[in-house]
Amino acid sequence: MTTAATNPEIFAKYLSTLPEDDDHPYRTGPWRPQTTEWDADDLIVVEGELPTDLDGVYLRNTENPLHPALKTYHPFDGDGMMHVVGFRDGKAFYRNRFVRTDGFLAELDAGGPLWPGIAEPIDLAKRDYGWGARTLMKDASSTDVVVHRGVALSSHYQCGDLYRIDPYTGDTLGKEDWRGGFPANWGVSAHPKVDDATGELLFFNYSKQAPFMHYGVVDAANELVHLVDVPLPGPRLPHDMAFTENYAILNDLPLFWAPEYLEHGVHLPRFHRDVPSRFAVIPRRGQTGDIMWFEADPTYVLHFTNAYEDGDEIVLDGFFQGNPVPALALDQMQTRLHRWRFDLTTGTTREESLTDSVTEFGMINPGRAGRDYRYAYAATGKPGWFLFDGLVKHDLRTGTEERFAFDDGVYGSETAMAPRMNGTAEDDGYLVTITTDMNADASYCLVFDAARVGDGPVCKIQLPERVSSGTHSTWAPGSELRRWHDVDRAAEAIGL
Ligand SMILES: [Fe+2]
Repeated sequence: MTTAATNPEIFAKYLSTLPEDDDHPYRTGPWRPQTTEWDADDLIVVEGELPTDLDGVYLRNTENPLHPALKTYHPFDGDGMMHVVGFRDGKAFYRNRFVRTDGFLAELDAGGPLWPGIAEPIDLAKRDYGWGARTLMKDASSTDVVVHRGVALSSHYQCGDLYRIDPYTGDTLGKEDWRGGFPANWGVSAHPKVDDATGELLFFNYSKQAPFMHYGVVDAANELVHLVDVPLPGPRLPHDMAFTENYAILNDLPLFWAPEYLEHGVHLPRFHRDVPSRFAVIPRRGQTGDIMWFEADPTYVLHFTNAYEDGDEIVLDGFFQGNPVPALALDQMQTRLHRWRFDLTTGTTREESLTDSVTEFGMINPGRAGRDYRYAYAATGKPGWFLFDGLVKHDLRTGTEERFAFDDGVYGSETAMAPRMNGTAEDDGYLVTITTDMNADASYCLVFDAARVGDGPVCKIQLPERVSSGTHSTWAPGSELRRWHDVDRAAEAIGL
């Protein structure tokens, strides 16, 4: 038997309180959580060759429960676990760490669950405090990860703190406070956006209190420099946002808690078929009064791929749900890549479906964020399940697709695009994903040539242990990480 690396070492082991005969479909099989934190250097390449012009870290967050639910588990309830696969000089390393949130530490101390999950009533909470737009939930920081100023930030879809994570070790460094400006009362939603061209981070949050949404900007010096109300008609469940060079785009979509139940403290998401979708276009440093609202066909959108300006129009691409129900499987939600065009001079919207195929979790070359772009790399879903069974490269200029299907029993993670060092073409780079391979009872990091996805991976790297399925990931170039660390060191040296 090959070992996963020349020196895989256990960093820490945690005591799970999940039942030994657990049969929950999202805590077993490909969703089996890990309890071990690993350090592994010089990972073994089992197939192909590690590219020498791949430099940076692939970061992937997962929902990885250490405890059972109070009553009813939902796969979004798991504790955040960050996975790091780093590449430099033709070598790769791996780290995984729980995100050590306040809620995680409190439950570790208590030896069991303290807060209800998304499928449970909030009055089950065993503490009189908690987090999230629903209130009284645990901030597991398990949904998303971005890198701003050389530091990874994990986040939670229900709003909460942003936890600062070392992008090389996965260690939790503490909570982000943006020089005292962090909106701690509402927290921040998953899917803040980083514009590498300006060093800014754009974010939103939402709650059950008016004005129901805020939009904010953190500058390249990590200071909260902008925070405005985005008044909505009532509590909403936004999940993602988008930006262009000059605008941010927020949304008010007709899938939200049924008001008649909410009055009685019951959080029942319902699609309101007769209510239009609305998109807010706001100048990136604009005020509430500058918001332009655009109406569109009713739907729900979990994720946008990108947005950009085209003359007087804002172009927004994302995954339109043909059947917007609170479901987990892409085939149930019927998610298709869609384009909205908002005309800033007439206030009108045009929209069209870009593909027939059902995909989601689209990633792009990060250098094209907010700019005109051609390619989106997305996942296909196993029917009936929240599992990714293949990759699709969408060419948005020609409408063509290039596909790669994982073997039966093998599932990928959200696949990040890693531009090749000194690459220039938009698809000159690599796609990086972590598989959950049920056939081998193992996980591998796969690297694809982004220009030839259908050819299959150029290398397959063994990880120390099978990784649970999960949600979001990102790529951070090594040059950027080192630049920010140098910037911070220089600032410290002159006493800033
Ligand atoms: Fe998401």
